[in-house]
Amino acid sequence: MIRVALVGAGFVGRNHFNQYQLLGDRARLVAICDADPARRAGDWTNIGGNLADATGRVQDLGDIRPYARWEDVVAAGDVDMLDITLPTFLHPDIATAALAAGKHVLCEKPMALTVEGCDRMLAAQKDSSALLMVAQCVRFWPEYVWLKQAHTENRYGKLKSLSLRRNAGTPSHSAGAWMLDPTKSGGALLDLHVHDADYALYLLGKPKSVCAQGHIRNGSPDRVHALWHYNTETCVYVEGCWDFPSGFSFNMGFTAVFEKAAAIWDMATGKPLCVMHNDGKTETPKVPEADGFFAEIEYFLSCIAAGTPPTTSTPQDSRDAIAIALAELESIRTGKPVPIR
Ligand SMILES: NC(=O)c1ccc[n+]([C@@H]2O[C@H](COP(=O)([O-])OP(=O)(O)OC[C@H]3O[C@@H](n4cnc5c(N)ncnc54)[C@H](O)[C@@H]3O)[C@@H](O)[C@H]2O)c1
Repeated sequence: MIRVALVGAGFVGRNHFNQYQLLGDRARLVAICDADPARRAGDWTNIGGNLADATGRVQDLGDIRPYARWEDVVAAGDVDMLDITLPTFLHPDIATAALAAGKHVLCEKPMALTVEGCDRMLAAQKDSSALLMVAQCVRFWPEYVWLKQAHTENRYGKLKSLSLRRNAGTPSHSAGAWMLDPTKSGGALLDLHVHDADYALYLLGKPKSVCAQGHIRNGSPDRVHALWHYNTETCVYVEGCWDFPSGFSFNMGFTAVFEKAAAIWDMATGKPLCVMHNDGKTETPKVPEADGFFAEIEYFLSCIAAGTPPTTSTPQDSRDAIAIALAELESIRTGKPVPIR
């Protein structure tokens, strides 16, 4: 039984809390930390967000201990793992302290706001007996798991083009509006678009260069359109924005055109993943059932139980996704392609 402290009881913290309720005896929540006294006591009536469970509630936390300070969670003797769901600018300090204390760390994406922050986390993990994984839920999301498998197995021939999209209204749920401050969240580039930067990396590896356009607001783009160049014929386009009107339903999706078929999915349509074959037939493939949040947590727990570092989502890839997103920012600012090392 892995004893977990949930560090952050906001939108994603509440979501992760729900997942632990489904994990049976594989993990036990022993502590919950939030600077907000009501939230750490289970009053979640004012938590919003753009995915499932956006309604508030009062949660009976039973014998889960409340903490105001994450430093006290790191020092707690009966905690094996921290699940960090705090604002992004806090990730490196908490993750490095927890790893130094020998505690496993599952940290929400984006890993950090800078490559240096990511490198601090990687170094702390190297010096620790504990494991680190960044919660890149898209790698575990059923439709994206299916696409990764189809591509790896070469099921429909070579991938000719990949388009990844993530569109949203400006987030309004974050505590004290920290998400709207790019010095705390990295703006849409790191908070939202990094999901797809990480997924493109997962599917195709590092590009040779990136070329991007965007709209910069408050020093950070709230819209990114990026072309990733590889030394192959695959055309890769990644789009992310949170500048839609507030009534817009959050969407994530992809179009992948292979030699023999095209796969199309857009969450907001409510329609299932569709594969259109060149011969005119269409197919609705069966996708894995578990949602991405549950699957990522379950996977990391299984890594801890087996004592093996995560491979489905490595901290190095999470770091590289940040580096590539920041290269896109450079391209937006300079109007030139930026090589990726
Ligand atoms: N995987 C996803 O799809 C996804 C979606 C949204 C957010 N996120 C990420 O999850 C993290 C949290 O985002 P969120 O949307 O849950 O934010 P949120 O504002 O809803 O929740 C953050 C919580 O942290 C608490 N907090 C802030 N500073 C604190 C401190 N110093 N000590 C203790 N508690 C503190 C706040 O009171 C709040 O309850 C971010 O890194 C964000 O990028 C991931």
